[in-house]
This record gives sequence, C-alpha cells and structure tokens, in this order.
Amino acid sequence: MMKPEGRPVVDPDLCRQCGKCMAVCSLDVLEPGERCPVATGAAPCFRCGHCMAVCPTGAITHPGMNPEHFRELLPAAEGVTSELLFDLLRKRRSIRSYTDEQVGEDEIMRLIEAAVQAPSGLNAQSWCFTIIQDPERMARIRRRIAAIYSFLLNMLESRMSKFMLRLQVGTEAVSVLEEARPLLEGIVAAQKSGGDRLLWGAPTLVVVHSPDEDPTGLESAHYAVANFMLMAPTMGLGTCLIGVLTAVAEHDPRVREFIGLPEDHTLDAALVVGYPTEEYLRSVDKRAAEIEFI
Ligand SMILES: Cc1cc2nc3c(=O)[nH]c(=O)nc-3n(C[C@H](O)[C@H](O)[C@H](O)COP(=O)(O)O)c2cc1C
Ligand code: SF4
Ligand code: SF4
Repeated sequence: MMKPEGRPVVDPDLCRQCGKCMAVCSLDVLEPGERCPVATGAAPCFRCGHCMAVCPTGAITHPGMNPEHFRELLPAAEGVTSELLFDLLRKRRSIRSYTDEQVGEDEIMRLIEAAVQAPSGLNAQSWCFTIIQDPERMARIRRRIAAIYSFLLNMLESRMSKFMLRLQVGTEAVSVLEEARPLLEGIVAAQKSGGDRLLWGAPTLVVVHSPDEDPTGLESAHYAVANFMLMAPTMGLGTCLIGVLTAVAEHDPRVREFIGLPEDHTLDAALVVGYPTEEYLRSVDKRAAEIEFI
C-alpha cells in the first residue's frame, strides 16, 4: 500500500541546519547535505508530513502535499486542557433518540476532517466515507437488515435449523446471535410496527469502508471513526455505532448495493449521526479495566 508520492525539498536559504526534520522521519528520507538536509532518493517517503510540521523556519515543501493544510497549532499551554478533553470523552454517548433536523454538508465535512486526522497504518489513509441521507434508501436498508435478522432468528427456533445454521456460519456466530437475541428481536418487532431500533430514527447514516488490499484499513478506519464520534458533541451532534448493520451488510449483495459498498472494499464501520433529543447531564459508570504493569 505504501506508494511513494514525491519527496520533500528543502530550501537551503531558509534552513538553519537544526536537524529536527531528520530526527522525526521514520524512514530516513532526509540525509545531511552540505547546506541543508536532502532527500537522496534511496528511501520511499510516505508523506506523513512530520518533517514539514516540525521545521521551525518552514524551509520544507513537498510536491505531494498542500502547504495550506499545515496549519499553525496552538502552543501546548494554550491548547485544550486535560480536564476539558476528559469532559468531552466522558460526554460522548451512544445516542438513540434524534430530532428530525438533518445534518448539513458543512457539518459532515467538518466531522470527516476531524476523522482523517487519525493515525493510519503505513499512513495509507485509505478510509472512504459514504453519507446516506435519503430517507427512502435508509428505509430500504432498515427493511433488508430486519428481514435478514428475522430469518436468522427463525433459524434458532428448531434444533435442526439451528444445526444447519451452525454449519453455514459457524458455532461462534450462532452463539453471538443467541446472545444478541433480545436486541435483534427488538429490531425486527420495531420494523413491523413502524418503529426504528436499527438506525434509531437518525437522519444520516455514515458507512466507512476501505480497499481490501489495505491490510490495516479496518483498524485505521476505527481510529478515524473514534475521532468523528468525539468531534460530534462539540458541534451539538450525537452518534451511534450500528454494529448490527456492519455484522451482516458485507455478506449481503443487496445491502452492499443499498449502502454503495464497492466490490473490492471492506465495510469497516457504520454509524448514525444527528441532533440528540436529550441532553445527558452526567457521565456514566464504566467498568474498571483490567490493567497490568509489567
Ligand atoms: C463495535 C460496536 C458495535 C456497536 N453496535 C451497536 C448497534 O448496533 N446498535 C446500537 O444501538 N449501539 C451499538 N453500539 C454502541 C454500544 O452499545 C455502546 O457503545 C455501549 O453500550 C456503551 O454506551 P456508550 O457508547 O454510551 O458509552 C456499538 C458499539 C461498538 C463499539
Ligand atoms: S514526509 Fe514523512 S516520510 Fe517523508 S520525508 Fe518527511 S518525515 Fe520522512
Ligand atoms: S527542520 Fe528545517 S531548519 Fe531544521 S534542518 Fe530541517 S529543513 Fe533545516
């Protein structure tokens, strides 16, 4: 996946020979030169931008990167305090009740800009975002997913069909299905009665996918989604991951078509976004994590 896309160029007239750019490059692309560091061409550059972000004089440019995207950062003393960030982390909830107000394109673009600040394996940034706001398409997705779960739940009803299901999807998948049964029955029942316990009545569904060829695409996309979900409450928005969609969508050609998933892409995550009807006043109790210092 690592595709060299040009190399950095150092302006010798601006360079102070401080060496910071070479210290941060994980690939040793830049080497000491007579008047300034030079990219000799021996190592591939994966355009992480670190050398440009660290240079005190702005001496470095890169043909594959837009200099306008290297924005000045607030000094550490003026940036977000630990307390404020912690408040945001505690504030993020899985929102399951939304107003009818649609999320604007500018808001979506800002959330995605936050998302793509995330780390990615080999700096591939291979994540793709499909935004679904058409109510009819969302209804089709809901209907199809509910039908799939209705079929799977029926298969759990008799010993014979359960046995057949085990042969088809494996013992582990059947155990997960049984564990999630109350939740899935709720989705199916709501669909029948005109409710929505799948997408929770949210106005927007976001599907994140990446090319199959990126070995870290799935993992990287999850970090991007985490950024997206943390940015949302700062804009008055709420999100909820829809794992029950992700679990079956990839294997169903019709859902793949409804969510516009390319043939050679993996579905990494699905989440809904909208304006919450309720404001949470308190953080919640999270289980103490198992921690070991070695
Ligand atoms: C992988 C994953 C899949 C999830 N799938 C769903 C889902 O299908 N529907 C849903 O309502 N919530 C889903 N959630 C949200 C969790 O239920 C929620 O994060 C958890 O109950 C804790 O609540 P909190 O997010 O408000 O802290 C999912 C969360 C994760 C991490
Ligand atoms: S962009 Fe990243 S990989 Fe390329 S030279 Fe700069 S620090 Fe090295
Ligand atoms: S960080 Fe900038 S000033 Fe320092 S050596 Fe590299 S190019 Fe020169």
